[in-house]
Amino acid sequence: MAAKQKVFYICQDCGYQSAQWYGRCPDCQGWNRFVEEREQAPQAPGKNRRSQTQSPKHPQAVSLHEFSPVEFPRISFPWGEVNRVLGGGLTLGSVVLLAGQPGIGKSTLLLQLFGQLDSKQDTRPLLYVSGEESNQQINVRAQRLGIKGQRISLLGETNVVRLVEQIRTLSPEIVIIDSVQTLFHPDLSSVPGSVSQVRESTDHLVRCAKEMDIPFFLVGHVTKEGSVAGPMTLEHLVDTVLVFEGDQSQNYRLLRSSKNRFGPTDEVGVFEMVSEGLQEVKNPSELFLRERAQNVPGTVVFPLLEGTRPLLIEVQALATDSSYGVPMRNAVGFDKNRLTMLLAVLEKRAGLHLSGQDVYVNVVGGIKASEPAADLAVCAAVISSYTGKTLPDKTVVFGEIGLTGEVRSVQQASLRLREVQKLGFTRGLLPSLPAKASFDHHGIEMMEISSIDMLLSLLSMNTSS
Ligand code: TYD
Ligand code: MG
Repeated sequence: MAAKQKVFYICQDCGYQSAQWYGRCPDCQGWNRFVEEREQAPQAPGKNRRSQTQSPKHPQAVSLHEFSPVEFPRISFPWGEVNRVLGGGLTLGSVVLLAGQPGIGKSTLLLQLFGQLDSKQDTRPLLYVSGEESNQQINVRAQRLGIKGQRISLLGETNVVRLVEQIRTLSPEIVIIDSVQTLFHPDLSSVPGSVSQVRESTDHLVRCAKEMDIPFFLVGHVTKEGSVAGPMTLEHLVDTVLVFEGDQSQNYRLLRSSKNRFGPTDEVGVFEMVSEGLQEVKNPSELFLRERAQNVPGTVVFPLLEGTRPLLIEVQALATDSSYGVPMRNAVGFDKNRLTMLLAVLEKRAGLHLSGQDVYVNVVGGIKASEPAADLAVCAAVISSYTGKTLPDKTVVFGEIGLTGEVRSVQQASLRLREVQKLGFTRGLLPSLPAKASFDHHGIEMMEISSIDMLLSLLSMNTSS
């Protein structure tokens, strides 16, 4: 007798399910995201696939004070950048989703991590499960990266039930699944990569990871809107979400943690993609400022805070006479609406006539300066481009700007100044700092800016153009 099939519709973005099709998802409001999926009903009661894998024991409540303080056991990689983003190494039994656009370097990163553990004395294999590339393709890549692969085992299994069986037999130290979108559960008839398949497969792997105390890396491709297929459900299932990002036309890549049950989020690691694979960048500020032109109007150095880490980046602006009725405002790496607001504040509070100017802002190297602390740097770059005067030498700028033109304080000013000092800068244009006695400015000369017109008069005075 043929098994009954339940037909339903599911939002590819948020996983919202419904018996009827919607043009617009009632939950996440996305358009055209619903796809039809079919799920086979379980064959007989008790043979349900969940009941097969669930533990037969009923959990008992335990008192919290019976637990002694423990550190999570972790695997440490030679790459400190990866350890930092993971919160101090890879926790045993944790499931880490590595999300990123196709071609950004996810497979390369993970294969290199395995390569680093290759020579470790351990009898357990490092299992690389690939549904995307053939074993031969992975072999070619490993050769290119100089990885011998004494401990690395390759497996081309995409059936998640058989895969979990293999993992139980092999008992590897770490498992990489490249990618979770290629896996399928045989009880579901929907295609691999569909929301229900991705969710079901991940669910199986998470239970396997917890039962066997093996850490898993799951590669997840990101759709062009920037979400992992079936994102909300998938992100809830895993312990850690790492996002690997970067401008594909640039060589460097950023590894970020956007969720971490075993460490802080918002940490960032920086890598450079070269012909021998990825290399960690220990001093990213140097990399971002490498090609900066000196003594040119319209460029400002800004100490951006990424998580707990300050990075020195270059903010550029160009203000030119507008040839259209409505002046252009455009920004790359900075919020366009915020730029429009800052230009209005410059016009109204500092009397800078920008209504006849096209203004472009660019944060160099594809970095996103999304914190309000970048406001003062953006304004300084615009003023500098408009007046044609450069900023004083070896100067950084940061501060948030309010609608009345006041410059507001920002978080972690001292931490930013430490990085500023490390990179050989000597001066900072920054907001007034209330508690001066306890404030460590790391020897940086502080020029306190309380309002936007003060910034304008200071930059207009500078005659180094
Ligand atoms: P890949 O790891 O296949 O990306 P993903 O798994 O995220 O889809 O990386 C592919 C890109 O990396 C490819 O465009 C070539 C580049 N690359 C290098 O520049 N150097 C190298 O040594 C390797 C292995 C890849
Ligand atoms: Mg890949």
